[in-house]
Amino acid sequence: MSVFQTLCRQDDGVPFFMEIINRKQRMASLARKLRRENKTIGFVPTMGALHEGHLKLVEEARQMCDVVIVSIFVNPTQFNDKKDLEKYPRDLTSDAALLTEYQVDYIFTPDEEEIYPDGFSTYVYVENLTETLEGASRPGHFRGVATVVTILFNTIRPDFAFFGQKDAQQVAVIRRMTADLGFDTEIVVVPIVREETGLAMSSRNALLSADERQRASIIYKGLREAKLAARNGERNAAILAEIVRKTIETEPLAQVDYVAAVNNETLEPVEKIGESAVLIAVAVRFGKVRLIDNTVLNRRQ
Ligand code: PAF
Repeated sequence: MSVFQTLCRQDDGVPFFMEIINRKQRMASLARKLRRENKTIGFVPTMGALHEGHLKLVEEARQMCDVVIVSIFVNPTQFNDKKDLEKYPRDLTSDAALLTEYQVDYIFTPDEEEIYPDGFSTYVYVENLTETLEGASRPGHFRGVATVVTILFNTIRPDFAFFGQKDAQQVAVIRRMTADLGFDTEIVVVPIVREETGLAMSSRNALLSADERQRASIIYKGLREAKLAARNGERNAAILAEIVRKTIETEPLAQVDYVAAVNNETLEPVEKIGESAVLIAVAVRFGKVRLIDNTVLNRRQ
């Protein structure tokens, strides 16, 4: 049996079923049925190890859509280091328990062979956006992301798909891909959820020591300083990026990988905050853990 149902409680006490689906065909036929019933489908793709950042996406989907589907699939093609893939935390029981609290209707959690059957050889490569920033240190990463999201979109054909702003480059890649391949899915981007210290929520935060986790809040401080400077009239992108770098470098444990000021859509370097929004994106290492974060600056800042 590839499907099982969990009885869940709703706020109003009315029970409902959350179904866990492993088979792509079953997921596709269910989604077809939902569309025939004129239900709007909200889709949240994840790799599991859920934290408050993911739950915010689910909350947003719950508010906007009749039916919420969350996928949990640790996608091998987006890992360029095999050890990272093996180490990736997997705990379906606790993820499913969390999702029942948020009244998710379906969890789609296929095996690797369901997504990448024997002989699989078609990949989605989004030009221009995928070689810089994260792409530079993770070759092939975005090809893996674009490929799996294409397969998931084709299976579910959601009305809305929810992604976190924390992965700003992923958002740019998915938006481009959705437009280019003509998916009938609206991409909804949900703001970054932060810990009390300001550190952006991420599955990787669990790999930091308590001390590192505290110190890593310097990343947010750097981004805030840049926002403040922009608000005070600074328009020069290089100066704003330098403010971020200098602030982060006051923390001895932080090793800045990059601070970039780029166009929020094309990810091309920019010189000034002008008509279009500027993404200040950073990657910083704390020991073996690499953290990313960002802020978007525009003329109104
Ligand atoms: O952001 C993630 O967790 C993954 O990149 C995604 C979108 C689920 C694709 O595997």
